[in-house]
Amino acid sequence: MAHLDDLIASDIHAYLKAQEDKSFLRFITCGSVDDGKSTLIGRLLYDSKLIYEDQLASIEKDSKKSGTQGDKIDLALLVDGLAAEREQGITIDVAYRFFSTDKRKFIVADTPGHVQYTRNMATGASTADVAVLLIDARYGVQEQTRRHAYIVSLLGVKHVVVAINKMDLNGFDQSVFNDIELDFREFSKDLGFTDISCIPMSALDGDNVTIRSENSGWYKGRTLLEYLEDVDVDAATFDSPFRLPVQWVNRPNLDFRGFSGTVASGTIEVGDEIIVIPSGKRSTVKEIVTFGGNLDIAREDMAITLTLTDEIDISRGDIICKATSPAEQADQFQAHILWMSEKEMFPGRQYLLKTTNKTVPASISNLKHRVDINDFSEVAAKTLGLNEVGVTTLSLTAPVAYDPYVDNRNTGNFILIDRQSNETVGVGMFDYALRRASNVVWQELDVNKTARAEQKNQKPALLWFTGLSGSGKSTIANLVEKRLLDLGRHTYTLDGDNVRHGLNRDLGFTKEDRVENVRRIGEVAKLMVDAGLITMASFISPYKAERQLARGLLEEGEFVEVFVNTPLEVAEKRDVKGLYAKARAGEIKNFTGIDSEYQAPENPEIEIDTTKMSADEAAEMIVKYLNDNGLLSAYDV
Ligand code: ADX
Repeated sequence: MAHLDDLIASDIHAYLKAQEDKSFLRFITCGSVDDGKSTLIGRLLYDSKLIYEDQLASIEKDSKKSGTQGDKIDLALLVDGLAAEREQGITIDVAYRFFSTDKRKFIVADTPGHVQYTRNMATGASTADVAVLLIDARYGVQEQTRRHAYIVSLLGVKHVVVAINKMDLNGFDQSVFNDIELDFREFSKDLGFTDISCIPMSALDGDNVTIRSENSGWYKGRTLLEYLEDVDVDAATFDSPFRLPVQWVNRPNLDFRGFSGTVASGTIEVGDEIIVIPSGKRSTVKEIVTFGGNLDIAREDMAITLTLTDEIDISRGDIICKATSPAEQADQFQAHILWMSEKEMFPGRQYLLKTTNKTVPASISNLKHRVDINDFSEVAAKTLGLNEVGVTTLSLTAPVAYDPYVDNRNTGNFILIDRQSNETVGVGMFDYALRRASNVVWQELDVNKTARAEQKNQKPALLWFTGLSGSGKSTIANLVEKRLLDLGRHTYTLDGDNVRHGLNRDLGFTKEDRVENVRRIGEVAKLMVDAGLITMASFISPYKAERQLARGLLEEGEFVEVFVNTPLEVAEKRDVKGLYAKARAGEIKNFTGIDSEYQAPENPEIEIDTTKMSADEAAEMIVKYLNDNGLLSAYDV
């Protein structure tokens, strides 16, 4: 190893002890693709002599082969570990590096600068104490700089170093540096940073990274490494309320029952009284068990197992808190969301919301505004696109324990997951809980769904017809309703064209309007089913997510998805309403099948191929399905 600390040879125990006692600093580097992030980190590692010799030899070799720096060593190669990056010249994932100096230990998250990779940046920033924002001195503050500054501030980073890099290219011109510094301080003044330090630098040549540069005599501040070694990051989270999200219940034998997890915030001591959320059960800490032995006190970030003085029920996903400061629970929130998917976010659509301890379905009930990254103003918006930030209200299907993000970064954050693709599409921060207006509680009525259906001598159900415009949905639904009427059943049909004349007359055909259209219809259909009716809903309903939402509103077996499968060519040829011709002529925009997508159901209860079957045959088949599945028999028969 190139780095040899004398203590290692002379007194290994003293060396290890010294290592243990050093404080830890987590920082993140962010910048645009070519700002020189990887080079900067490489320089820090290289100058603090923490590179293994074999690694160095291989970098020297690689620098000659694929490096971008001629005969100089390309330090970026040290950091850009992934082969794909080397070929593309961009960093594509968060890479964590560990290094230490005599004063401190460091973990650095090297996050990608490419515009699509805000996701990884957010991951890195949510645990960082300090953010190093790189600016290429030739270009100054860019949109990307503003975005990164905003995101790190949103994620609670308080200390910022602005590394004004590539100063060698302007001969370390002080006026260039001053202009950029002024510019940065001006735009970031409301972002809540407690300190901002600007450093003129050349990561490539090492100026002011670890060694004070002779080229910038006018600069009297610290080098980057000096700053990182000295910066005083408050350990406020140790004073935060204690939170242990239980990851598993450790029960190796009948005599031992412990609750394991990583302390998300605060401290706990043997003898402390605890409360379990959501059950509200209480007990007292008997032992704090860790891999290295029992402790009297544990704090944030430690992996521990608690044993308690009482036998109480605790399961995975519960949060153990100190009895004096229990976490609150809520199911309605105001939250900031950073959207990270190419697919836009739609209010009304259901996503999975995952917090430290729980995953529940949730939807964005309202997008209050989007944040304009250039001046941080609030802009009215209907959706959020990739890398956009908005303030929203969220409605969860079940309460979760939480803390406001400003109080606790660990228990105050969440991610949103797309239910179809399982992809993480957003990260969020709880601002505060919204109380439901106390007079709007769900009324348990004496006359309920069963009573209403029994009176009609039937079982309620929802037949959800989906398919392209002109596929034959309404025609078939109409025939089914007639037959049911003949059989003495009580029915109702909700139809796209009709509902759009009344309830939904404020909605058009953009994606967000269709999402809202189908959401409202799902809710109305649920009420119809609650009224005991056999209900037909006939809408294009092009997105899987909203059809699934409608299904989720009903009880098992009540929702019957009917896919009226007519190929586009056939529907277009029929063109009953003449709309396809208009859409092709460009007179109607966002027409399903032409310039707006249709996501076909994968496992519908019933699929009808209208090229092989008449509308009458289809109706017959649906009534038979209802009969075969007990939906035409009386309630209790
Ligand atoms: S949905 O996509 O939101 O479910 P819905 O079923 O309510 O659509 O309405 C579809 C009907 O509206 C079509 O049958 C057609 O008559 C009419 N329509 C008008 N413009 C469009 C459009 N751009 N795309 C699809 N249908 C349209």
